[in-house]
This record gives sequence, structure tokens and C-alpha cells, in this order.
Amino acid sequence: MVRNYFQLRGAFFYAAKSISLLIAFITLFTPSSFAADPAPGAHAIATAHPVATAAGQKILAQGGNAFDAAVAISATLAVVEPYGSGLGGGGFWLLHRAKDRFEVMIDGREQAPAAAHRDMYLDEAGNAIGHLSLNGPLAAAIPGEPAALAHIAEKYGNLPLRQSLAPAIQAAEKGFVVDEHYIKRARFRLEVMQSDPETAAIFLQNGQLPKPGYRIIQKDLANTLKQMAAKGRAGFYEGVVAQTLVREVRRAGGIWSEADLKNYRVIERQPVTGEYHGTRITSAAPPSSGGIALITMLNVLAQYPLEQLPEATHTHLIVEAMRRAYRDRAQYLGDPDFIDIPVERLTHPFYAAGLSASIRTDRATRSAELPGYHLNQRGHHTTHFSVMDGEGNRVAATLSINYPFGAAFTPKGTGVLLNDEMDDFSAKPGTPNAYGLVGAEANAIAPGKRPLSSMTPTFLESDAGVAVLGTPGGSRIITMVLLGILEFSADKSVLDVVSRARFHHQFLPDAIQFEPNALSESLQKELQQLGHHLKPMTRRYGNMQAVHWNKRSNTLSAASDPRGGGEAIVLPE
Ligand code: DON
Repeated sequence: MVRNYFQLRGAFFYAAKSISLLIAFITLFTPSSFAADPAPGAHAIATAHPVATAAGQKILAQGGNAFDAAVAISATLAVVEPYGSGLGGGGFWLLHRAKDRFEVMIDGREQAPAAAHRDMYLDEAGNAIGHLSLNGPLAAAIPGEPAALAHIAEKYGNLPLRQSLAPAIQAAEKGFVVDEHYIKRARFRLEVMQSDPETAAIFLQNGQLPKPGYRIIQKDLANTLKQMAAKGRAGFYEGVVAQTLVREVRRAGGIWSEADLKNYRVIERQPVTGEYHGTRITSAAPPSSGGIALITMLNVLAQYPLEQLPEATHTHLIVEAMRRAYRDRAQYLGDPDFIDIPVERLTHPFYAAGLSASIRTDRATRSAELPGYHLNQRGHHTTHFSVMDGEGNRVAATLSINYPFGAAFTPKGTGVLLNDEMDDFSAKPGTPNAYGLVGAEANAIAPGKRPLSSMTPTFLESDAGVAVLGTPGGSRIITMVLLGILEFSADKSVLDVVSRARFHHQFLPDAIQFEPNALSESLQKELQQLGHHLKPMTRRYGNMQAVHWNKRSNTLSAASDPRGGGEAIVLPE
């Protein structure tokens, strides 16, 4: 990570220097209205893998914009981070187009096949059979990433899809070397990976955990990418790839049909927006819960002079905001094409004022004192990247196949590792638990429905600057982004933002989970005195990728979470 830091610093100062020359030029030769809101004049990329960062860099150098770079990065991550995201999965791409300030969320979330039904993971006694929604083809929803990449290239890019996919095709053919992050995740999923011969052949070494330095070559995936390069979306959702996917899924007990693939559509959704101390927040819309929960928490916190409060009160209030937003999450949220979501109400400051009425500064609320819900918290990997180009176009994208290596099932001949995003649905809705399962109903399985997500790609914008951020991390994603925003708001550097020690509360279990060193001994004691339960974690979590443009100094910076193996760069235009 030291390597990243110095690379980042080097890139930062180089870019800052060329940017100041550019500013001098702009100030001399352009009208002041342009100088008041200048384009960054440099590019910044932060991704979870150096090969993906290089792919983005290459496409920008070829005249691509941030959207072309996003296509190249997503496709390359599908190759070099096969445990995190891929053509067999989906995600949310948040776009900002500089020339007209148009903002949109590309919803490329997976959706349930037409033959899916709400009880498909229950046994005869009505109990959830956990492994069915996690492992093998029955766990896989219809992928959205290939359609999203074709859509972004066609509608927003400067370059043809063929060109933006080229770095990924090259990486798949040439192979990539496994690192510690790969091995850790493969170890976690080893048994399931071994049970599918195709997954084992591609992603393991002689059926066993690969040794460090082992090179993974993906010829079939390269061919699938080439089909897309030649035919766009139809290269995946129709024709030989689609037929093979369906045949292999069904042969192994899955329920996909060719119509499911052919009918899959990307949906353009209006992002969720809010404001925190003069900074505009733009974030993920449903079927992600991220944007709404984030705005709710920020609206609650905006009512307190957070920076002036003692550390224990400060932390306590953040935890209470988290507790309330996560309670609402499952109560109200799911696929907006299937249920009504009161987005405006939930993100309105008046609603937050109501939530805050039950917050006391002298003691913790018990989650049991609030109306309850059931949260299906799963997920161990996913990926996020952030890009800004010289014109100020930007992309925040969080992509997933859910569990590490998804369903650990690869339809033979396609190289496409399938997701297990069906597990993000509530497998057993409507069955009352101690708190009543109202929330699970909104997220019940239905044909063609998209499972509720926590992925939270986010933009921040104020007169002072613009930030692009996000992270993987299952249900902790939203609180990580919240803590990141609070760091930005306290004028911390982008490296501080991604490195910040993290804590989390999600209503149930009623405990503050926290990374080693996130809460000092004395703070822990004070929080316990307020009545909080503490659950120290043995490992750090998340892999945040962030880009920041300081509008006042016109400097661009980028940082990759020291917890992961990613790379952040800033480049002159
Ligand atoms: O969409 C979601 O919320 C999950 N599938 C994300 C899973 C995840 O982030 C796992 N990361 N470590």
C-alpha cells in the first residue's frame, strides 16, 4: 500500500503542476464564467486492481471519455477480479455528464428468471435451504453487466464497444497472476468451486488452491467478450453465447430460458439526491437501498453540530442514525418496478427530524424499542471504481456477483462465472419473526424482479469540489460511504477518506461492529456507558476507491483503500 501511496503522491504532484499551468492559461484566455467552474483538465482513476486501472488509462489515452474508461475497467475487472464482479453479474453505474450536468444511474442489476418463485429456496417444512440461493446455477439471476456495458458505450461513450473491450480481451488471453486477495477468496469458496468442473478448471490450479504467481488464462471468456465486441448486447443475450449459457444452466439444474436473456433490459434511473452542509449528494436509487439510507443518515446528522461534540457523543449519534436508516431499509425497500417506495418522504429532512425525535444524547436506543424488521445480510465480495476525466465527466460504479466467485458455477464453453445474487432476495418473506417481517415482503422473490442491494456508488459536489466514491462490503457498504462523506466534509484528504477506521451498526444485531483501532479504549468505555453493545471485529473490511477534484485549487487526487490491492492514478489530459 506504501507503493500506492507514493505512486499516488507522485502522480498527484505531477498533475497538480500541469493543472496549474492549465488554469493560468484558462484564466487568461476564457470568459470568467468558464473559469468559475473549470473542467479538471486531468484524469483520475481508482480501481481495485492495477490491470483495470491501466485499462482505463489506455482508453482515456485513446480519446475515450470517463464512460468509455468505465466500460474498459468493468470488463477488465471481470477478468482479473473474477471473485468480485463479472459478465455473469451486475451492478450500478452512476454517471455525470459534464457538458449538460446530466446525471443518471444505469441499473444493470441482475433479475430473477421468469421461472423463479417466492418459495423456491424453501424446503417442505418452509425453512430456507441456504445453499440453494448461494451455490450453483439455481442461485444465479439473469446477468445485467453485459447489457450495461453495451448501453454505456453506445449512449455515452466516444469509442465503439469493440475498442473499450479490447484491454479486457487482451487480459483474458494473456492471463493474470493471482495475488493474496484472490487466494483468500478462493480458499473461502474452495469446496463449492471444486464441485463444478468448469469453475475448478479455470479458477483453480489442478483442482486446488492456486499458488501465488500462478497465471489464470481465460480463453472462453475472451471469446465471449469478442462476441460482444462484434455484436454488442446481442453477442451475450442472443445467439451462441446465450444458447450455451441456457443449455449449461439447465443441464445443471437451473431454470434460465433463452427468453430470460433476450428480455433482459438495462434501466436508466434517476439517482437519489440530498444535501449535507451545502454539499450535494448524488447516489444509488432503488433497487439499491444505498442512496436512500445514506441520505436518511446524513439528514439525521445534519441536525447536530457534529464536529463540535465530544468524540463519544459524535460516534453515538452516527450509530443512532445508522440504526434508524437500517431499520427502514428492509421495511420499505426493494425493486421499485414491483413495489411503491416513498423515496421523497424517506429522503426528506422532515422525515429525518421525525426519526431524530427518539434519539437521546445520554443513552443508546435499544433496537428492540423501534419497530423491527428482518435483514438478510450476506455477501463477501464485489468491487467499486471511481473515474473522472479531463472534461469533468465522472463515473462511480459498484459491481457484483455477490459471494466470492458468485455461485461458483461456470457454464461450460462461455468462461462466464455466474452470480448468486438471488441470495440478496429474502428467501423467506412474510414469516413473522420476533419483530414481524414486514420488510422482507418488499424484497420477496418474483419473476423478473431485481433483488435489493446495498451498493452505493456516490458523487459529492459543492463549490469547493467534487468527489466520487464507493466500496464493496455487503450491508456495511452504506455506512462506509457515510463515514467517507463525513471525512470529506471535515476536509480530509482522499487518502484519509479511504483509509479511515470503520464502525457499523445495522439495527440488528443490536451492536456496534468495529475494525481493530476504530474506537479507542476510552471511547469504547464511554459508548458502553451510554448503553451500546460492542462487537469488535478481528479483520478490517471494505475496499473504497475514491477520486477528488478540489475546484478551488483545481487539483485532482485519487486513492485506493490500503485494505485492498487496488491502484489510483492521476494523469494529465
Ligand atoms: O448488492 C449487494 O448489496 C450485495 N450483493 C453486495 C455484496 C458485497 O458487497 C460483498 N462485498 N464484500
